[in-house]
Amino acid sequence: MDKRPVGVFDSGLGGLSAVKAMLRYLPEEDIVYFGDTGRVPYGTRSEKTIELYAKEDIAFLEKFNCKLIMAACGTVSSVAKEAMSHVKEPFVEVVTPACAAAVKATVNQRVGVMGTSATINSGSYEKEIKRRNPAIEVTGVSCPMLVSLVENDWIDSDDKIAVEIIRRYIKPLMEKKVDTIILGCTHFPHLAPIISKVAGDGVQLIDTGYEAVMRAKSILAEKDLMNEAGHKGVSKYYISDRTQNFSDIANTLLGTDISDQANFIDINKFELDLNEKDL
Ligand code: DGL
Repeated sequence: MDKRPVGVFDSGLGGLSAVKAMLRYLPEEDIVYFGDTGRVPYGTRSEKTIELYAKEDIAFLEKFNCKLIMAACGTVSSVAKEAMSHVKEPFVEVVTPACAAAVKATVNQRVGVMGTSATINSGSYEKEIKRRNPAIEVTGVSCPMLVSLVENDWIDSDDKIAVEIIRRYIKPLMEKKVDTIILGCTHFPHLAPIISKVAGDGVQLIDTGYEAVMRAKSILAEKDLMNEAGHKGVSKYYISDRTQNFSDIANTLLGTDISDQANFIDINKFELDLNEKDL
């Protein structure tokens, strides 16, 4: 048994899709979430910048003495190899568990991946799927505008503009007749109803946040790091910019109001801004 919190980070609020799954499947765990709302998006930035941001995000979470850290960000998981390799705690990224699920799910051996430009250019999902099964054909599409749709709360399944943007983005996947699509960015599960509507019933969607949480759950169990059964987990949220519609978006994505638990942190000098009581 281990009472320390689990740390989760993302470039913004998309990683709340992983937190949502964590609240459901690991309800006894305390969570510290960091959303880098001041520097989102990561997916259009260079490898060097993504590495630097990931290092800072991890260093911030390490201050909380986390028992496990999760990069709930497809871009960090795909690009920040160096930053991830130095994490001292058990670490979960989203690419490996999502690929394992996709390889299991596909029947026609054709998998599509939707991700940020950095994720798709890295070829991370394709490499991991091919490593598991070289016969699977993988088609990736960069969907940078979807991050803005989520961050701006345009996620209603009747939203004509969102539907049209998604239709255009997934056209190459439909042409390849994929039967499985990895939502390779943690912002995208929030658009799953629209993606599913556009792709049709025969296409399974893989939710990276959910798969990562399942991976975290088995690591915690294997290493005997689960919190006390029956403990009601407490979550703390830190963001690097209190964007105007933060509360509304977080509420929509998580299904619960977290404005009272959200703290602003200047990620460039967090040691100065964090009070002792926060640690
Ligand atoms: N949530 C990030 C990811 O999973 C994407 C958003 C971004 O570009 O920062 O890739």
